[in-house]
Amino acid sequence: MSKITAAITAIGGYVPDYVLTNEILETMVDTNDEWITTRTGIKERRILKEEGKGTSYLAIKAAQDLFEKSNTNPKDIDLVIMATATPDMPVAVTGVYVATEIGAVNAFSFDLIGACSSFLYGMSVAARYIESGKYKKVLLIGADKMSSIIDYEDRTTCIIFGDGGGAVLFEPNEDGYGVQDEFLRSDGIGRESLKIDAGGSILPPSAETVANKQHYVFQDGKTVFKFAVSNMADVSEKIMVRNGLSGNDVNWLVPHQANKRIIDATAKRMDLPEEKVMMNIQKYGNTTSATLPLCLVDYENQLKKGDNLVFASFGGGFTWGAIYVKWAYDPE
Ligand code: UT7
Repeated sequence: MSKITAAITAIGGYVPDYVLTNEILETMVDTNDEWITTRTGIKERRILKEEGKGTSYLAIKAAQDLFEKSNTNPKDIDLVIMATATPDMPVAVTGVYVATEIGAVNAFSFDLIGACSSFLYGMSVAARYIESGKYKKVLLIGADKMSSIIDYEDRTTCIIFGDGGGAVLFEPNEDGYGVQDEFLRSDGIGRESLKIDAGGSILPPSAETVANKQHYVFQDGKTVFKFAVSNMADVSEKIMVRNGLSGNDVNWLVPHQANKRIIDATAKRMDLPEEKVMMNIQKYGNTTSATLPLCLVDYENQLKKGDNLVFASFGGGFTWGAIYVKWAYDPE
């Protein structure tokens, strides 16, 4: 019997309508389009404005887009993995609500929290469930409402993040397509560099934590940047060497969209020209768990069966890694 690999067989995505441009941010904090563009590559991001809607809304929309495009019956889904850094609420699992709302009534579900690497780690988990032979359809959703944890008076973070969701279906493949190899890492050295101080078990919410703005994202950008540049490039190079891939053999880099300069450094180390690098940071900013699937959505019609894709991410924790995937289908 041939080995089962986990192939990506369908994708979907969603971003909210509201566009927060650099020009609008100029009216909110002391910043300018030129600084944001040259330091990050971002021009605009999408924000979920409607009150009462959380990450699950983005996730549901992304999954519904996938179902419509692929004629997948939600009842056939075995497992929904909800990758996110901004669950709807503590304790009640966001993925469970999403699974029920999308009609995945025969699935079980859990949230996977890995900061900006949530989706990449989720790919690893989804692949193992498929490779086990026990599960036939695993839906991995990456979604974040980053605007819910951003201080729009802090120019060091509010220019970076945006809201969005993406969904990917994994199915068994016996012809060798799908996830080939992975190299995942983490290091607690990053705990203080990218975090939200309050609202967790160490510092529960209080009037004081709210007054001190401790429920918003804090980032020591310089430190995170330094670790991101070297580590994302390292793992991407490592996965290529281990699989005998040169820059010529890799068709696409699918990088986490945190900063164009981090992506460029990774592509350079991999010896990849710009045309082989998926990039939509200019439109969406950093959507955390949604960056990788939203790249796939934007580039889907250029992907061919057999293409070699290297996914790479770096995020809070620190968490990072690279996954090598053989693309399983041609454009429509
Ligand atoms: O996805 C999760 C992982 N996160 C990342 O990978 C993010 C990694 N870090 C970064 O992308 C970058 O560090 C940032 C984009 C966050 C910042 O860029 P930078 O080139 O590292 O800027 P910096 O923090 O070194 O700041 C340079 C200057 C400072 O002024 P002084 O001290 O030189 O006078 C900042 O105060 O730019 C100033 N600055 C700004 N100026 C205009 C910081 N934010 C802004 C701003 N507009 N929005």
